[in-house]
Amino acid sequence: MNPKRQKTKDRRRARMLAQQAWDAANQGNLDLAEKIIRRAVATQEDNPVLWNDQGVILGLRHKDTEAAKSFAAALSLAPTFADPYAHLATLRIRQGRLEEALALQTQAVEYAPQNASYAEILQAYQALTGRLPLHTVPQAVARVDSTEASSDARSNDWPKRLATLDWHALANRLTRDGCVVIAGLLDASTCEQLCGLFDDDPLFSKTVVMDRPEFGKGVYRYFGAPIPIVVDHLRRAVYPHVALIANEWQGLLGESERFPEKWDCFRDQCHHAGQTMPTPILLKYGPGGFNALHRDLRGALFFPIQMAVVLSPRADPENANTQGFQGGEFLFCDSPEGRKSRPQEIPLGLGDAVLFCTRDRLVRTGGVVGLQPVKHGVGPITGGTRFVLGVPFHEYR
Ligand SMILES: [Fe+2]
Repeated sequence: MNPKRQKTKDRRRARMLAQQAWDAANQGNLDLAEKIIRRAVATQEDNPVLWNDQGVILGLRHKDTEAAKSFAAALSLAPTFADPYAHLATLRIRQGRLEEALALQTQAVEYAPQNASYAEILQAYQALTGRLPLHTVPQAVARVDSTEASSDARSNDWPKRLATLDWHALANRLTRDGCVVIAGLLDASTCEQLCGLFDDDPLFSKTVVMDRPEFGKGVYRYFGAPIPIVVDHLRRAVYPHVALIANEWQGLLGESERFPEKWDCFRDQCHHAGQTMPTPILLKYGPGGFNALHRDLRGALFFPIQMAVVLSPRADPENANTQGFQGGEFLFCDSPEGRKSRPQEIPLGLGDAVLFCTRDRLVRTGGVVGLQPVKHGVGPITGGTRFVLGVPFHEYR
């Protein structure tokens, strides 16, 4: 075959392999994704996009040194390619190398000035290095890229998009406080799409109407299998990150068991335990709605972290013309409630996610790590309607 035709053939094959690698990553199979992306790179070694993709996948596997080498290779081939700078910056943040991260993120913004997410993250890094007020940090560090695209197509990008978050900082905050916010995890159109599912009866296996002062007021519906693809992709993509955090806790607690690194393996464990019912739910609270503080104790086999995503906009108290719900803060505190229960009231808005401990959070007393029971709930909604997606990571019986 003449060299030109061979090159075309290699390019096509490499593109196909890269797609397969991302499909595997989306399925939670990062081991396979790594193997395939390495083959893609070997097939077309002069393609910076493939080196960048390899770096992202290696980063998801926490192989930071190799990931950094991949990003460096991408940049040696394409010095103005913004993506590898941004990903490398995330790695450096994870390693506590703030100045390097700042310099790299500055390059990313320089080469892709249209990317609002890069600029936000740069602001966050500037704040971390003391060059901006600190109050800008939490939201900006934990905000994901919200580019324009359809929800289903974008949900395929979750592993890549979630890799831009500073999971080291998120894990620290989740361990310290028992909950942590990821602002703007879902874009407005995905939120709208999910809210629109609420009245689609065939999608749900069970509906619970709460109307008791000791429990709450509102309606929640369990998705039946197969759950909507956008929810499935989101859960699969977030799981490897929270599994790492949960396993770190297992280590600190001196427990020998570890959660599998992939969602499919954990789901299989749930099934072996007889827990086959999907757990993701849609919740709807109208005016007067609330969810009393509680612990989620269902499931003999359970995952210690849960995710909730608010799907409705919050009204702006300073602008009467804005639409949205009022009240309805996410509540979190130690149990039993009291003077020392460290209550938190978090005003989440459209697309904001919260990761929280479902039963207990870690506490260190006199050098010994133990568990402190915690509760979560939702404060009274004083106006409007608040939809929420609830995503436990284990299945129910
Ligand atoms: Fe709950």
